[in-house]
Amino acid sequence: MPPVSTDSRAAVAAELAEARAAMFALLEPLSDDELARQWSALQSPLVWDLAHIGHFEDAWIGQRVGGLQPLLEEGEELYDAFRHARHGRGELPLLDPDAARDYVSRVRDRTLAVLGGESLGGGDGDPLLENGFVFGLVLQHERQHVETMLQTISISGLRHPGGRPRPVPGAGDRLVEAGPFLLGSDDAWAYDNERPVHERELPAFRIDATPVTNGAWLEFLADGGYGRRELWSDEGWAWREADGAEAPLGWGDGTVRRFGRDEPLDPDEPLQHVSCHEAEAFARWAGARLPTEEEWEKAAKAGLLRGVGEVWEWTASPFAGYPGFRAFPYPEYSEVFFGDDYRVLRGGSWATHPSVARLSFRNWDFPVRRQIFAGLRLARDGAPIEARLGPRDRRGALEADVREGLASTPKRIPPKWHYDEEGSRLFGEITRLPEYYLTRREREILEAHAGDIAAASGADTLVELGAGTSEKTRLLLDALRAAGQLRRIVVLDVDEVTLAASVARLSAEYPEAEVQGVVGDLERHLGELPREGRRLVCFLGSSIGNFDVEHRPRFLRALRDSMEPGESFLLGVDLVKDPGRLVAAYDDAAGVTARFSLNLLSVLNDELGADFDLARWEHVPRWDADRELMDIRLRSREAQRVRIPALGLEVPFAAGEELHTEISAKFRREGIEAELREAGFEPREWWTDEAGDFGLSLSSVV
Ligand SMILES: C[S@@+](CC[C@H](N)C(=O)[O-])C[C@H]1O[C@@H](n2cnc3c(N)ncnc32)[C@H](O)[C@@H]1O
Repeated sequence: MPPVSTDSRAAVAAELAEARAAMFALLEPLSDDELARQWSALQSPLVWDLAHIGHFEDAWIGQRVGGLQPLLEEGEELYDAFRHARHGRGELPLLDPDAARDYVSRVRDRTLAVLGGESLGGGDGDPLLENGFVFGLVLQHERQHVETMLQTISISGLRHPGGRPRPVPGAGDRLVEAGPFLLGSDDAWAYDNERPVHERELPAFRIDATPVTNGAWLEFLADGGYGRRELWSDEGWAWREADGAEAPLGWGDGTVRRFGRDEPLDPDEPLQHVSCHEAEAFARWAGARLPTEEEWEKAAKAGLLRGVGEVWEWTASPFAGYPGFRAFPYPEYSEVFFGDDYRVLRGGSWATHPSVARLSFRNWDFPVRRQIFAGLRLARDGAPIEARLGPRDRRGALEADVREGLASTPKRIPPKWHYDEEGSRLFGEITRLPEYYLTRREREILEAHAGDIAAASGADTLVELGAGTSEKTRLLLDALRAAGQLRRIVVLDVDEVTLAASVARLSAEYPEAEVQGVVGDLERHLGELPREGRRLVCFLGSSIGNFDVEHRPRFLRALRDSMEPGESFLLGVDLVKDPGRLVAAYDDAAGVTARFSLNLLSVLNDELGADFDLARWEHVPRWDADRELMDIRLRSREAQRVRIPALGLEVPFAAGEELHTEISAKFRREGIEAELREAGFEPREWWTDEAGDFGLSLSSVV
């Protein structure tokens, strides 16, 4: 949509009049002397901008469309933007303010005459007139210069009503899923650099809902951000040293100087007056980066960004033409600026007219510039996944476990290696089996008591160990949200694929919370979990039953040691019950648990190049009444040798030999509470489902 209804001359005339009134109102508080002075090498004298607006309008409408002679003979020499650099314009024999005002008014009279005589609908084939483009051009130009003049006034120290960005409520970031979107605009009045609209594909990224505030910048200052070389690019550091910058432009001690006044710094106000170099150093300090302009536009068009139009936002993108770019109506608007020297800014500031601050609009400037009303918004790559167990560690750990496990008697493989993407998928299927009561019973308890758990824990951070898809956990998250407590979610799992998908979904469903995924091993990485907030650590699904008796106390002790007094631990345990039901839960009629069990061999085949033939193995779950655990094994149907090239191994299995793959201990209340106490927890609450199949224990750390 064009910014104004272009089929109506009256509407265009009204827009022109409004822009002109705004421009004169802006200059009204200033004396002629103030208008004529060059206040800064970076900005033209205001009277230059004033007459330049007239010159531009006369060149495009009076002369180009109307075929008239220039209204000011020396206009081209004095007011063409390419003729003289800004810093020298104060030396030119410029029109004085009265003459400049008179000049722009006379130009405007000619413009209105041309407008009155022209068809705005078609323009008889002249692309300049199509949909009134040329009038949109001069209108936007004037509005852009109003902002430029406000920048000049702002840095000149002149007293002026000015303006400021408004605080933007909200926080947190948004996940933007990978996928295509349409970049650019083909609106009638869009500039050449916004065209052509075309499809772009971006990987997933995260972007903050709101721009960076003064308050956040104060933390950066307090942390010595301006003196920490490692946060700055080479170019940025060179600029900082040359400029001596130690805070955003205009900042004093708790104050900000603007429009001739020192005002108290408002921590909630969007930050402005930083260079792109400062913005980048801040982003690095915050563990983030600047968004690319494509990311910014995709998120903005999806309605995910708040505070657009308060401050311009520096992006990571140099200014370049889109594929298929064609300069129109002249190369000097955009094309001559393409290249690595300039950075794109997006969004518009409080001083930008809304018709200019469209989501596809591209502003650009040198990365050293600070007089712009520009701040930033932070972005990050994809889902926030921290890999404690990167692919190399994972491979190393798998190799060590397999080498050691196959050399022992009986042979065994730890259960965590069941969980590649397929293993996690099969586990999801298991939870829906009629025989597998565990998930349903635990859910039943959570449905009844999630509110109690939220209240008793007083937590603002939920940490889930062995999280999988965190489905039941949503009951807890909803309860924390309902209590207004939810700030942070941390999920840890060995399976990166499932974790990444889960983090993406949690981020979308709980936008108020900061969501973090940790790919890690709960036997090794508990000490490295994020410690922020008051945490409720959850270990659900009776996964604790997978530890054997000697590892369980070690795990509980390590968990206790990683927690602070006042934090809570929620543990789900499957209870001892009729062996028939227990065995059925691990040997379902549809054979899903058997497939899950055998998937362990597929993992070894896929990751270590082993040649296990799954058809030569069977799933054998047994109830061990003495130890009160389900003992799950894979039995070799015949004598066979298995090769594992990655380990240089050839492993013989006798007919009927069993490979130990998993135990699932079953619990009694007294026993598990004693173990918790032994590890330094204080059991506080105990709930079971109505049938008494499953138990949920809430402990605190003392
Ligand atoms: C039985 S599932 C339970 C999933 C979920 N918590 C629930 O209650 O439905 C076990 C989960 O723990 C993960 N897991 C198993 N061993 C692990 C280990 N040593 N470290 C981290 N995660 C592990 C698996 O990838 C899987 O997602």
